[in-house]
Amino acid sequence: MKAKKLTGEKAAEYIEDGMIIGLGTGSTAYYAIKKVGEMVRNGLKIKAVPTSKETAELAAAEGIELVELADVEALDLTIDGADEVDPDFNLIKGGGGALLREKIVASATEKLIIVIDESKLVEHLGSFHLPIEITPFSWQYTQRMVEKFSCSSKIRKKDGEIFVTDNGNYILDCDFGKIEDPLKISVELNKLPGVVENGIFAEMAEIVVVGYNDGHIDVLA
Ligand code: A5P
Repeated sequence: MKAKKLTGEKAAEYIEDGMIIGLGTGSTAYYAIKKVGEMVRNGLKIKAVPTSKETAELAAAEGIELVELADVEALDLTIDGADEVDPDFNLIKGGGGALLREKIVASATEKLIIVIDESKLVEHLGSFHLPIEITPFSWQYTQRMVEKFSCSSKIRKKDGEIFVTDNGNYILDCDFGKIEDPLKISVELNKLPGVVENGIFAEMAEIVVVGYNDGHIDVLA
């Protein structure tokens, strides 16, 4: 908790007046958003694109002006969390179910800053099961096609019901074991009809801010 707060707040230091920024989703991005809210109340002039309904609500409550990605050219920076980060800054995201909007926003961003606590640093992606957003239509068929990539998978549930994303889709959580080539598997998965997006973010992050429970922060770039 302390580490997440430190890293979220540190990332907010990259924000400057006049920027249009992306706001991520999750318990670490939460602290960045709270900090941005404080900065806005102290006079910072920015606009923000949220990556989920949850983040939109939080940001609005903080008094942050929200805009649609459709209405802006590009974003100066985005601050978002991750579930795993490897030494090449490949990420797994989507533990909170917001991976599709997060990836669209990340792709429109000049500088993607990832905020994590130390537990998210890994040598290889894959211990965290890869979230894949799929269409509800015949989802079991899509699941069988995904499992041809030598993984096992479970449809995500919440309170006993299938979890539905902000986009009205479902999520498969997939166990691939160690993911040797994140970019390749990401590209291949997205070719499958029924797959909307997967949670591998390869070659997107520019800065990773790591918070440690002893109170120190590393900025990796
Ligand atoms: C949301 O779908 C995710 O991509 C989050 O960014 C990721 O799960 C990290 O969340 P936490 O900071 O809560 O661990």
